[in-house]
Parts: sequence; C-alpha cells; structure tokens
Amino acid sequence: MTKKITFLGIETSCDETAAAVIRENEKGTADILSNIVSSQISEHRKYGGVVPELAARAHLENIEYIIQSALDKSEMSLDEIDGIAATAGPGLIVCLTIGLNIGKSIANFANKPFIAVNHLEGHALSPGLENKIEFPYLLLLISGGHTQFLTVKDVNQYEQLGTTIDDALGEAFDKTAKMLDLGYPGGPSVEKFSKFGDKSFFKLPEPIISRAGCNLSFAGLKTAVLRESKKINGNEQMKYNLAASFQNTINKILYKKTKIAIEMFKEKTKTKEVRLIVAGGVAANKSIRESLTKLSKEIKCKTIYPDIKFCSDNAAMIAWAGIKRYQKKLFNKVNVKARSRWPLDENAPYMKGPGLKL
Ligand code: KG4
Ligand code: ZN
Repeated sequence: MTKKITFLGIETSCDETAAAVIRENEKGTADILSNIVSSQISEHRKYGGVVPELAARAHLENIEYIIQSALDKSEMSLDEIDGIAATAGPGLIVCLTIGLNIGKSIANFANKPFIAVNHLEGHALSPGLENKIEFPYLLLLISGGHTQFLTVKDVNQYEQLGTTIDDALGEAFDKTAKMLDLGYPGGPSVEKFSKFGDKSFFKLPEPIISRAGCNLSFAGLKTAVLRESKKINGNEQMKYNLAASFQNTINKILYKKTKIAIEMFKEKTKTKEVRLIVAGGVAANKSIRESLTKLSKEIKCKTIYPDIKFCSDNAAMIAWAGIKRYQKKLFNKVNVKARSRWPLDENAPYMKGPGLKL
C-alpha cells in the first residue's frame, strides 16, 4: 500500500487567516483532518473593503493560534506531517508574507519539504478535495481578484482561454453592493437581496458579449449600475430590482461566454467529453450555479462545483495543492518570495490597460 500524504496548508493572501491539515485517501480525494478559517469581515466592514494594513495586523495576531488549532484538531504532530504548503501569491504582499514566512519557518524547523502555492492553483484544484477528476478540464475561476477561463491540463499546467479585460467578477459584485448600500461583503448580499427584486426591471449592458472570444468585461456594467442607482433615491424596492437585474445580467454573460469557452476547450484539447469546473469565491453564488447547470444540461457537459466552504478562501485547498505538487516533486527552497501578481499561465497576454485590441 502506498503511503498517504498529509500536508499542513496555510493561507493569508487577503482577509482570511486559515490553516488546514489534509490527507489524501484511497479514493484519491481528501480527508479533511482540520480546516480552520478566521474571517476578518467585521474588521473591514466599516471601510466597505479590505484594508491591507489592518488585514496584515489581524493575520499577525491570529496566525499562530490558527495553525496550532488546525494541528490540534487534526490530532497530528508536526512529525507525522509530510510537508508544509503556504500561499505565496497572488495577493497583498503584506499579507502573503506572514503566512509564507511562518510556513517556511515551520518547514525549516521541522525539517520538512516546503511548497509555495499559487492561490489560483489552490482554487483550480479545489474540486479535487471531494471529487476524483480527470485532466484536462475547463476551469471558470471567479473570485474577488480574478476571472478566467483556463484549460487545466495537469497540476502546474494551465492555458488561459479568456479573462476579464477590466474588473474581476467578485469586484463587480462588491462594487454593486456598495453602490446600492446593501452591506458587506458584497457578493453574498447582492445574491440575497436580488431574490426580492424584479430581474427584468433594468436593461443593463453585457459588455463585449459578441466579440473577443471568451474574454469578459464588467466595467461598463458597473457604470450602468452606478448611473441607475443615482436615479432611485434610496427606494428599497428599486434597489432590489437593480440588484436582481445585475445578477441576471451576470448570469447571462457567464452563460454565453462559458458556451464559447467550451467550444474553444473542445477545439484545443480535441476532447468531446467536457468537464467544467467552476471555482473561486463567486462560485458560491447559487443563481450563477443554476444558470451554468442549465447550460451544462443543454450541451451535455459535466459541471462540478466545490462545496461552498471550499469556494471562498481556505487553507484546505492550499494543503491539497501542496500534496499534488509534492507528488510531482515540485518543491521550493525556503528563499522563495511572495508575488503580488502570479498568473497561472505565464504565457498569457496581459489583458488590462490602454491599447488593448480585441
Ligand atoms: O476566492 P475569494 O474568497 O477571494 C479571492 O481570492 O478573491 O473570493 C472573494 C469574492 C468576493 O468578491 C466576494 O464578494 C465574492 O467572492 N463572493 C460572492 C459570493 N460569495 C462570495 N459573489 C457572489 N455571490 C456570492 N454568494
Ligand atoms: Zn481566492
């Protein structure tokens, strides 16, 4: 019997301080021995967004306790763990450095292998915690900082098919919530309040919908929400109508662009059987899930969503990516540095900024 690998994972890229102990099981999925997440929502709420200095201070205050709790809950000692994985990017440098440095120190002290994980690879491989998934698959990664379609060929092998040319989808949700004064964090509150509204009330734009392959754009939609929000004078029902219309427009954009991405994926991989994985914080949105499930039924593709607790930032996905990289002997030295920008496909063109041609 081959030895089952156990990893400690650490995540501090943004506003969640998290640690987890994960072991691969006989089914090729994960036994979650512990998964501790300390969210800083209350600290950032009054500012309506993440304040990097406050986030870093909260990570510093909590990280040792969170790691110790994850080890205690797993009933594993450091000696019994095969390696340590910590997020090294992309994200806020002041935050990343805290989890990364403590991870490196523990690995050094315990004489264990260390793996610096790309947070996006954590999201990309996260469905594997609960499902045995064959490569290649099509990934729609939707989070607070990223929005991408990628072909996942294997661990560490990604090809970008499309991305946002301006805002990330989570950012569009968060800004919409702020403009409508729906509360923080934005994504879940837009989802909640849109249930009380009329989704056809406002006709909102679907930017670059009929061009640019499966690239996406949300800036024009955000501006339209701002324009309409100024006309409704705080009327509660109109707010809900605008939230519902925004959610409905997002569903339509993702439906159409995912359909195109599936065609591109088929063409590139010569695969007839498409597996679509939707991951990242925004993948928790049930309305988006319903719309993409409808698409996958129509075109008969298999769609997998991670459990809600593995959509938003967590360290289970970081430990899991660590295990997958360990099995491929993708180790890092302890002088590895944090990276604020770290694309999964290093060859993909940078799509933001002036001079962009679509
Ligand atoms: O993956 P994540 O936890 O952090 C990043 O890596 O960015 O994603 C956070 C983003 C935030 O923008 C948050 O508003 C959004 O995910 N989000 C949602 C929902 N839950 C979280 N967006 C829409 N609907 C939700 N239910
Ligand atoms: Zn994330």
